[in-house]
Parts: sequence; C-alpha cells; structure tokens
Amino acid sequence: MIATHAGIDIRKTNDSRIHEVDWANLGFGKTFSDHMVVIEYSDGAWKRPSIAPYGPIPFSPAISALHYGQAIFEGLKAYKNERNEVYVFRPEKNAERLNVSATRMCMPNLPVETFVESLRALVQLDADWIPRGEGESLYIRPHMFAVDEFVGVRPSETYMFVIFSCPVGKYYTNELRVRIEDKYTRAVKGGTGHAKAAGNYGASLFPTQIAKDAGFDQILWTDSQEHAYFEESGTMNVVFQSGNTILTPMLSDSILNGVTRDSVLQIGRDMGYTVEERKISVAEIVALMREGKLDTAFGVGTAATIAPIRSITYGTEEFTLKSQTPEDFPMKAADHLDLLKRGLLDDPHHWNLRIL
Ligand code: COI
Repeated sequence: MIATHAGIDIRKTNDSRIHEVDWANLGFGKTFSDHMVVIEYSDGAWKRPSIAPYGPIPFSPAISALHYGQAIFEGLKAYKNERNEVYVFRPEKNAERLNVSATRMCMPNLPVETFVESLRALVQLDADWIPRGEGESLYIRPHMFAVDEFVGVRPSETYMFVIFSCPVGKYYTNELRVRIEDKYTRAVKGGTGHAKAAGNYGASLFPTQIAKDAGFDQILWTDSQEHAYFEESGTMNVVFQSGNTILTPMLSDSILNGVTRDSVLQIGRDMGYTVEERKISVAEIVALMREGKLDTAFGVGTAATIAPIRSITYGTEEFTLKSQTPEDFPMKAADHLDLLKRGLLDDPHHWNLRIL
C-alpha cells in the first residue's frame, strides 16, 4: 500500500523483521531496519522521494559507481530516551557535507531539506528499531551513487540516493592500540580526503589490514608529503589533550570535516578548555609522550563516538597512555554528548532535531 507523507511516497513492509533481531548482540552494521529511502536523479532533477521495504536494488553490472567510484556516503545516528522521545543529531551538517562530497565527485547536490525530511520520515517509520541501551542507537547511512549504464569515463547522468538504517551497539568496545603510519597515505593534497567518498575507505583497507595483522586496532594517518603531520585516524578524526589544551589537526582538503569533531571541540570550549586546531607534528606528540605530558588521545566520529586511545606506536617504540577515567576530558565529553543526543541536557547550540 502506498501512503504519502510530506511529499514522500511510502510503501510499508507487510513482513517486519524486527522480531528476528538479537538485541543483546547488536554489534555494528549487520542488522538492517525494515525500510529505506530511495530517490532517483535523472534529466537534471531529483524525483519524488519514496520509502520502500529494505532490500536489494537490481542494477546493471555496468553502472559507473562500480567502475569509476562515483559513490559517497554519510553517517549519523538517532537516539531514543526513556520517555521514548527520538532525536537525530545535527542532520543538516551531514546534508551539507554530502553536498561537499558530491561537488568534489562531480555528482548532483541534494537539497538539504530533501535529505532531512526523507530521513525524518524513515526514522519515524522505523522508530521501534531504535535501541535505548548504553552505547546504542540507530545508525543511519545516507549514500549516493552513479547508475549510468555506460563504460566511458565521464560523470554519470543518473544517480540514486538511498538511506538505510541499522540498530547498533558500540563500534569500538576497547581502548585502542594505534600505530602512526609512515609509509602509506590515506589522502593527498588536492585529492578527495575531505569528501566522504567510498574510494577513500577502500584505499585505507590494505594499510589498515597490515596494522591489524601486527596487533593494532587502527592507524594514525600522517600527511602524504613528509609523513610528519597528523591527519586523522581510520574511521574518525583524532584529538590529543595536554593539560587544559585540546589539540587537533586543522581541517584541510585531506581531512574529513567530522560532525563529532566539531561538536567535541565546541563542548571542550564550553567546558573551559583551550582548543587548538592547527598542524600537529608527530615530533610534537612524541615529545609530549616522552615527557609524560600527553594526558589523553582519542578518536571522534559518528560511528566511533569518542574512542579512547590506550597506546601510540611510532616506529618500534610504543607509548602507553594512562587509562582514561571519568574525570578526563574524553569521558566527560562522551557523557555530555550522550545525554545531549538523548535530549536529556540543555542544547544551547540547537544541535538536536526532535523526530518523535
Ligand atoms: C561514521 O562514523 O559514520 C563513518 O562513516 C565511519 C565509518 C563507519 C566508515
């Protein structure tokens, strides 16, 4: 049956899979809610949004996304509190960043309102899929890809924008052991590192696997020219803290403009920390670690939220940081962010969108 909701055609499933969910073992990204948003683009315009039961979409093997990588994505989360109120955190920021990625990848921009309203309709429809436990949320994955059936290299003329969602637990369940990467590169100056382009993640898999095989959880990427300055970590931005100062690499065309990064830095400023966004050299952080002056290091991202780093290896030397306590900035910021996202704290920056 097709119903309409604020300009969106909705075809509901007759066969919900929600009773099959193993709520005690959600993990990350392996369970999919009942519905998905689909919007097609052709003849220079986005068509009417629709919501359909989640499932496979048939494609030709010749679509451009598969061959030339015109594929971008976003990640954001919906939270539910004890009063069954539902919130999505800063969706406009993701919509704006999707368009930054789209422009870089020669793909059409999607109106921010279409992004937010179709996402709102999906989360309302699948609200029963939002878990409420500690560290749990509904992870939402908007993405856009090129669907021209054409093998020549040029921007596609047709696209699909799809949003699906997954009830999830924590992405990282332990404090991380990371290695500073001084051989491989995630992103180059003038490249696509600031875009959330699928290819950036594909290219990161091989070096990350080498690090994992050596017993590390993640890589700390450095710049492509000298491997002397920090960029970001796999799946997250990276932040360091020494005393009252919070340090993070400044944004550039090789660093993703993380929504959690931006939010955590603002929370730091609101808590009275000095925040420095600038070039941060490996030498500077290694010196701080040698002197015992690096209090904490952590990754920040939508999926990862705030992921404490336990040790940092540079070359053959491993520096172990102290285990983080509730008094340390990362845990204070994580608690603050969690309460805020569940609508249980004042929201002075108007970050939360109430959905239900
Ligand atoms: C996110 O944090 O939302 C991401 O997209 C990172 C990763 C899961 C690919």
